Amino acid sequence: MSIEKDFIVIGSGVAGLTFALKVCKFGSVGIITKDALEESATKYAQGGIASVMAEDDSFDLHVKDTMETGRGLCHEDFVRIACGEGPARVRELIELGANFDRRGRGTEFDLGKEAGHSKRRILHANDLTGWEIERTLIEAVHAQDNIEIFEHHMAIDLITRARLEENIQPGSDKDEALGLYVLDHQTQKVETIEGRVILMATGGAGKVYLYTSNPDTATGDGIAVAYRAGAKIANMEFFQFHPTCLFHPKAKSFLISETVRGEGGILRLQNGETFMENYHSLGCLAPRDVVARAIDYEMKKSGDDYVLLDATHLEGYRIRERFPNIYKTCLKFGFDMSKEPVPVVPAAHYMCGGLVVDVNGQTNIKRLFASGEVCFSGLHGANRLASNSLLEGLVLSHRAVEKAVALFKDSSSKRVSQAHRIPEWDPGSAVDSDESVVVSHNWDEIRRLMWNYVGIVRSTKRLKRAERRIQLLLEEIQEYYWNFKITKNTLELRNIAITAQLIIQGAMIRKESRGLHFNLDHPEPDDTNWKQDTVFQTTVHSLITQTNPRIVTHE
Ligand code: SIN
Repeated sequence: MSIEKDFIVIGSGVAGLTFALKVCKFGSVGIITKDALEESATKYAQGGIASVMAEDDSFDLHVKDTMETGRGLCHEDFVRIACGEGPARVRELIELGANFDRRGRGTEFDLGKEAGHSKRRILHANDLTGWEIERTLIEAVHAQDNIEIFEHHMAIDLITRARLEENIQPGSDKDEALGLYVLDHQTQKVETIEGRVILMATGGAGKVYLYTSNPDTATGDGIAVAYRAGAKIANMEFFQFHPTCLFHPKAKSFLISETVRGEGGILRLQNGETFMENYHSLGCLAPRDVVARAIDYEMKKSGDDYVLLDATHLEGYRIRERFPNIYKTCLKFGFDMSKEPVPVVPAAHYMCGGLVVDVNGQTNIKRLFASGEVCFSGLHGANRLASNSLLEGLVLSHRAVEKAVALFKDSSSKRVSQAHRIPEWDPGSAVDSDESVVVSHNWDEIRRLMWNYVGIVRSTKRLKRAERRIQLLLEEIQEYYWNFKITKNTLELRNIAITAQLIIQGAMIRKESRGLHFNLDHPEPDDTNWKQDTVFQTTVHSLITQTNPRIVTHE
């Protein structure tokens, strides 16, 4: 028996919960989430939300900063929308109960500063902004009767019209999303969920890399699931590395927010020398791609395992009050950041490419929307401006609501799923795995090869190596997938493998260096040939990507 919902939301961060809360006034909602409801990248966001709030700031300045950081690849139409509509969405969050820090006891917000911003415009709740937003949205979701939450459920694959009718091409005009198969990984049961509109809001894919600031859930699930169904995926070569994660074997790349540098923190080599002035006029507050590359370069030159982030000249009480979580976490690992510099390294942080959407979050597959880190709206271009991501999720999910509700109300859509006999999940002849080592080995190999060959600095030779290896791994994973019963680990493995392949392919075809993509063999930007997006779409439902790579201009 399948479950029926009017709206299905996959993912429970800011993008998913914002959409769920707004559409539940029109129909039933099912939230599918891989872990506990609160376990999303949103929860871990430290810096905050970029939004024009101060009198000396303007939408034009926020647009300009975003576009400059995006190195010529931002889509200006959506940048203007996101910057312009941001403050209204932030106010809605505040009305729901989110508390952002204010100055003293006053009404003015205590706005933070991060790299690439010409003004102070980062709303924050100490250094736990993401948690404040997630907490607020979860409380509001729990107060609704019309939302059912499916925790520990993982999307396996979308059910689309093209999957049911042979003459329909995946991702074509006639295709549409009808539902999905999900694995309840506590009971190992596969369920079929039918819906009239689906929002993909599964977040990012930092786990593709060996070192990442992302939570364990960030395995590129939405990218891989949508891609296999024929959705267009763009600009995957632009993966942002955060310059400052705590270097400690047990810290799991704990993030030390850029706002620490925004308040005056200084990067130093282990011998105490500063170095960022040699790379950019903005020094330690240069855009993230520049800072991450500079650290990478300095570490390779000196052979050191880390550089230092020095905040000892800031007043101790200010560090403890403004960054209580970072301060406490560093202390737990043996570093008192008010008294000594802390060791830091870059780590994979944010996927700027993703599932292509229009300015209302609609993908090329009818009834499938996307919002948040999983999507490609054109806001980030070749490099994301700090703290623009929570903003994107809020704005796009709000805009998607109107279109989604219109589709839902359209009478012809009412029987979309009923008109198709959606088959129940068929496990075939798969048996329990007796070789789980294949999963752990391949998982480890992918993350290591992505870090070594497709990391902060790339070369054509390294990319070719990565391409050959990922192809072999995908073949092995496909065989394993069909022979053994699915588990959360096998689903995540095939998703990171496909996401890795898309990142490699994007990096291979972009023959220039721009923003987050730096190739030693093509070290300069090439505006004549490459001021455009890389877009991939598979033409068959396949585990091994059979791509139809396309380049689209956005001007
Ligand atoms: C940070 O606090 O440094 C991260 C903020 C972001 O990635 O936008």
